[in-house]
Amino acid sequence: MVRIPIAIVGAGGMGGRHLRALGALYESGMANVELVAVCDLREDNANHLADLAEQMLGSRPQVFTSMETMQKQRPDIEAVDITTDSGSHHKVAEIAFELGYNVLCEKPLSLTVRGCNRVIEAWKKSGKVLSVGEQERRDPMCRLNKALIDAGVIGKPYAFLLGSASGGSDIIIWPWRHYKNIGGIFVDAGVHAVDQIMYYMGDIEEVFAVSKVWEPKRYKGERIGVANFYDHWAKEVPDEIDADAEDMVISTLKFKSGAVGQWTSFYAAHGEPMRYGMIYGSKGSMEPAKQRRGDPLTVTIDGVGKISGDEVLELVPDFHLDELPARLFGSDRIGSYAGRVPFEDADRFLVALEYYELGQCIADGTTPEVDAYVGRKDLAVCNAALESSVLGRPVTIEEIENEQTAEYEASINAHWKI
Ligand SMILES: NC(=O)c1ccc[n+]([C@@H]2O[C@H](COP(=O)([O-])OP(=O)(O)OC[C@H]3O[C@@H](n4cnc5c(N)ncnc54)[C@H](O)[C@@H]3O)[C@@H](O)[C@H]2O)c1
Repeated sequence: MVRIPIAIVGAGGMGGRHLRALGALYESGMANVELVAVCDLREDNANHLADLAEQMLGSRPQVFTSMETMQKQRPDIEAVDITTDSGSHHKVAEIAFELGYNVLCEKPLSLTVRGCNRVIEAWKKSGKVLSVGEQERRDPMCRLNKALIDAGVIGKPYAFLLGSASGGSDIIIWPWRHYKNIGGIFVDAGVHAVDQIMYYMGDIEEVFAVSKVWEPKRYKGERIGVANFYDHWAKEVPDEIDADAEDMVISTLKFKSGAVGQWTSFYAAHGEPMRYGMIYGSKGSMEPAKQRRGDPLTVTIDGVGKISGDEVLELVPDFHLDELPARLFGSDRIGSYAGRVPFEDADRFLVALEYYELGQCIADGTTPEVDAYVGRKDLAVCNAALESSVLGRPVTIEEIENEQTAEYEASINAHWKI
């Protein structure tokens, strides 16, 4: 298989996770991309990732601190994988398209609709591929969840209920997850949630929400980062930071289909943490898939009762995974993979699927599943919730996507001078 030369731009925590995903793709025997360079404003970070790549992939990618230099010295590189912090995406992606690269950009595409539109404009001019890194829907259990809903197993969807509460006053993952202009935790995690909700239920039309910043001071707790991906920089995290990004958003969602959602994102919850998720339809209910865990799905159908695990597969006889996910997860029809595929492997497999799709799209000109418009809508729903809280009224996604109202986004756009 021809391997398209690519570079990772952004060698922090997620750069490391993407590297492990490339390892999984190489091991699958279906690699269609090859890491040949790493670029980061911080040369030490780029070198750290290049060292890890050498250990993991067997060859050391070349190190750069600017994409312009990289493009001059390695004109063979066809695509960049942008894993820089969220606030920089619009700028980095714009430059990447101007330099003639295809782009896989981590979510969110940008922090504002205006930022997304800057990227979209540059992408359209370039004629290249733009894929947004939204890997969670690629989990085999999310694919099965979607197939069950589409098959009408729980009937017409009425309601999606989703919530979580945890965090207290700890720094969650990394300090910039508490800075509005770089990518607050609600948007950072929220675009994932929204992507899955709309994947199952169709587009959201309107949001009514209340948001808060309960904890303006955050403290370095016992856990920092995700797994061990950020350990290398743990000493750089200050003991205390000033936070200005929302840490609680409680939203009511109206879907175009007529269904209704309730979504609680609470990152300043002290005491007992909590998490729930449920989809209710006209014939039954199901708990949405928890990605990367592989837990069996359970549907509860009126007059039938509970159906769980492999038996769920009988409800969707035509459900099959594509070749690469089937190879990575062990079968093209999976009722669960818990206990068989460890969390860490599931994590790298999902991102490996993104890389593979990027390679395919470059090779045959097809459009990625999560394209610029899906990425922008995922962001727009989050920002509609934040805008709704500022205005004290329901806000439509159309208003946000058309920038008819942008009071929440205004200070972010001003910060980035866009
Ligand atoms: N899909 C997921 O599950 C998932 C998980 C975690 C993070 N992410 C996303 O990945 C992105 C990166 O997150 P992270 O936690 O790795 O951040 P991070 O702060 O750990 O790393 C960012 C890196 O980008 C570099 N950088 C910043 N601006 C740059 C520029 N203009 N050019 C080159 N390098 C630059 C920094 O020096 C740093 O090394 C974010 O957008 C985040 O939302 C996605």
